[in-house]
Amino acid sequence: MKIAVIGAGYVGLVSAACFAELGHEVVNVDNDRAKIAMLEQGQVPIHEELLPELLQKHRGRGLRFSADVRQAFSWCEVAFICVGTPPSPNGEADLSYVEGVARELALALKGHTVIVEKSTVPVGTCEAVRRTMLLHGADPRDFSIASNPEFLREGTAVSDFLYPERILLGVSDEESRKKLSAIYMPLLDGSYYERDDAIPGPTRPARLLVTSVRSAELIKHASNAFLALKISFINAVSTVCEGVGADVRQVAEGMGADSRIGPRFLTPGIGYGGSCFPKDVLAFRSVARSVGYDFQLLTEVMAINESQKERFLAKVREALWTLRGKKLAVLGLAFKGGTDDVRDSPAIEVVRRLLQEGAHVVAYDPAAMEKAKALFADGEIAFASDAYEACTGADAVLVLTEWQSFLELDLLRIRGLLKLPILLDGKNVFSTGVVEKAGLLYCGIGCEGSAFPLHAPFSQVSEDRSEMAEAGAQVAGEFTSALQALSQ
Ligand code: UDX
Repeated sequence: MKIAVIGAGYVGLVSAACFAELGHEVVNVDNDRAKIAMLEQGQVPIHEELLPELLQKHRGRGLRFSADVRQAFSWCEVAFICVGTPPSPNGEADLSYVEGVARELALALKGHTVIVEKSTVPVGTCEAVRRTMLLHGADPRDFSIASNPEFLREGTAVSDFLYPERILLGVSDEESRKKLSAIYMPLLDGSYYERDDAIPGPTRPARLLVTSVRSAELIKHASNAFLALKISFINAVSTVCEGVGADVRQVAEGMGADSRIGPRFLTPGIGYGGSCFPKDVLAFRSVARSVGYDFQLLTEVMAINESQKERFLAKVREALWTLRGKKLAVLGLAFKGGTDDVRDSPAIEVVRRLLQEGAHVVAYDPAAMEKAKALFADGEIAFASDAYEACTGADAVLVLTEWQSFLELDLLRIRGLLKLPILLDGKNVFSTGVVEKAGLLYCGIGCEGSAFPLHAPFSQVSEDRSEMAEAGAQVAGEFTSALQALSQ
């Protein structure tokens, strides 16, 4: 199949590479000529596992890049719209890029083309694309409109595309259904997984769901809103856990054992971020309001998410008393582990608030530092080359992104580098026991072992917690003398 993918961002570039991997002829179009030039030279503008390998394998063969959208439209049989739909100030999705593509499409159509909305859009957008095309003179016999929402998570988008739990086609005619089913057939009949050059993954034929166009558009928003709801729910439960002395990790495990709940997306932290959940929850609430329903549940999901950052800052203040002048090591700036994306990152927001309170921040992130630098003025925060450099001489270390690589850190070495042995875990990456065995005070979200209030004499606290390792008791002495130094 000849496929044009409009937009070379997180969704478009991954989709173009994966369509080529499935054996189709693909042109990936973007109006950012610099980005197209980078891609043609073999550079990869986003941090995605397996994407460099796929681009290397298909660039110049089944996959080419272009800035000429009209040429692409006149050549292709199916055109996927994968342009951005950022939030407008009032929370509604800004569809101006989508409208721009619809206009170009109307002017460039040759022969029947299936036009597929893949970006996350409010229900009714496909209808709007159709109207725009007709307004600009397209012949309704020359095109069909369909919805094929993506369910790609950043960092694992290639494997999410090639090993989807479902392939969702929102169609209004047989032509669209046939062509889109044919595009995904290697995943639907499992033949892709038989290939010896297939990307490895949890082999299972994908499930095909065919719905109306509007239902498909809505499924995407409702899915993301529900996932965000699940995260805000466990964040609220973590607050109750702290109040009653329960451990949210045990509670989440107990809840997740019920197949109707499931174990995933039950990790509390400083809140969800990224370029999807925040905007999709806002957009979905706007869609509801546009049809007269005030989706208050989503308002509360956002309120809980916002409050998590303040709750975490309160823990930092409780552990360190005043923040002014304190040096804080921050591990993690991306909105989640496995990505370099800092868009709507809770970690960035927490750092901004620490700076407002006069703290000095030294940050390290395995992939997101370059993108984070653009968000701060020169010298506003320091960047370290690794976690150990960040912790050197710091009054505490704060973990703000769930990078799995942080679990390999030598915590004893970290303790030796810190001025005060305090680790505040904003994403529950570590277990309390492991951190305490290295002689560090642990403060997580929704669990025992929160940083001891500064006024509690550390020696009394260490007697209360007899399970603290010998190293912890030794730290008690160091900590007490550090406290005395602080109080002078
Ligand atoms: C999400 C959806 O998962 C994906 O299906 C959709 O296509 C795009 O949006 P993404 O935003 O890339 O993907 O990341 P995801 O892995 O869903 O995490 C979103 C946020 O939730 C991150 O900030 C993450 O740290 C947070 N999160 C996730 C939690 O706080 N707790 C959890 O248990 C899981």
